[in-house]
Amino acid sequence: MSALPESKPTRLDALVSWIDARFPMTRFMKEHASEYYAPKNFNFWYYFGSLALVVLVLQIVTGIFLTMNYKPSAAEAFASVEYIMRDVEWGWLIRYLHSTGASAFFIVVYLHMFRGIMYGSHKNPRELVWIFGMLIYLCLMAEAFFGYLLPWGNMSYWGAQVIVSLFGAIPGIGESLVEWIRGDYYISDITLNRFFALHVVALPIALIFLVIAHIFALHEVGSNNPDGVEIKKVKGPDGHPVDGIPFHPYYTVKDLVGFIVFAALFSCVLFFAPEMGGYFLEHANFEPADALRTPEHIAPVWYFTPFYAILRAIPDKLIGVICMGLAVVAFFFLPWLDRSKVKSIRYRGWLYRGFLIAFAISFLALGYLGLQPATPEATNAARIFSVIYFAFFILMPWYTRADQTRPVPERVTYDAH
Ligand code: HEM
Repeated sequence: MSALPESKPTRLDALVSWIDARFPMTRFMKEHASEYYAPKNFNFWYYFGSLALVVLVLQIVTGIFLTMNYKPSAAEAFASVEYIMRDVEWGWLIRYLHSTGASAFFIVVYLHMFRGIMYGSHKNPRELVWIFGMLIYLCLMAEAFFGYLLPWGNMSYWGAQVIVSLFGAIPGIGESLVEWIRGDYYISDITLNRFFALHVVALPIALIFLVIAHIFALHEVGSNNPDGVEIKKVKGPDGHPVDGIPFHPYYTVKDLVGFIVFAALFSCVLFFAPEMGGYFLEHANFEPADALRTPEHIAPVWYFTPFYAILRAIPDKLIGVICMGLAVVAFFFLPWLDRSKVKSIRYRGWLYRGFLIAFAISFLALGYLGLQPATPEATNAARIFSVIYFAFFILMPWYTRADQTRPVPERVTYDAH
């Protein structure tokens, strides 16, 4: 076969070489996309990392546009959001994109985390990927909490009041700490101002840096996959993993499909049910903050309710706060609590599978119970599910060792379509 005639460098090629001589642009794109070898057996669960990135960008962009018209003051905040909804050109769209994006972020991140636990992606050598992920999750929770005060609705106000006052349970320093956080004796204009600063500047910066660290850490060790097989162990003569394919174009195209499906579902909520029956935008938040009138039933947005249910299930306030904190912090320790020889659920036994299923059910049940009024029945149910929730972590060193695992194949399993 005759070689193709060499094409003359275009102006674009010249520009690229000019940049490359001064900045490692092509090298970077190769390292992280066209020559980043990802396992060829990624499945449905691998959409959520790129979707989390998409939602992060969406939140930042819509947030910038919201900030152009929002007024971070107790006197004007509520009215400025109404102004955005009614008078600003496309303001309603920007605001609903941002509010729907907040819930979408948690849906995507919870699925992303669940995937990690299912396939043992938290295990050696990806502990730091997991830790950076958990730091992202903490920042995301803080970001959502601070953002929720900004519309200055009645649930914003009382939600912040309830959560901030939890710090008051800390012996000795509690009350002063609460005052320090609020910057005042009650949730006020001062609190709103600092929450605004944290929501629009500090936390987005922290999130961006953590996401970069998360992806760099992942690309250093390479992606895990549904088989939990380390593809770097079997390399071809070209030095690339035989079970790996370049991230670009193969997974950029696959992720595009995920994005289109996500965008369709997201648009259904955005255009037809932006409040999502009070789950994404709570009813009480359509009334301005009123320090003299609590909403009938104070509950955080759905993504915090599993932890809120644990808090309410425990009669002692301090122990409740500690358990709520532990329910989040426990995830940090997964890489070391999990003593299994295998990573993926595919090769684990029924002991681990049983605990994981029970955990997922308890997380969902606690989420549901946290949205309901705290009746004695709901509280008792929340206690049972809290025990299951913590058993997943506390008993993990035992059941991951005792579990009957199956042999892991040398190479990934993959049915070509
Ligand atoms: C803004 C939030 C986040 C973004 C943008 C993000 C982004 C990503 C991306 C792009 C990947 C590679 C693609 C993939 O494997 O799906 C990834 C992998 C991973 N992420 Fe995240 N992530 C986020 C939050 C989290 C959280 C909260 C955790 C867990 C605590 C986490 C744990 C992991 C793990 C363990 C992997 C490796 C998965 C594997 O190789 O099997 N991430 N993340």
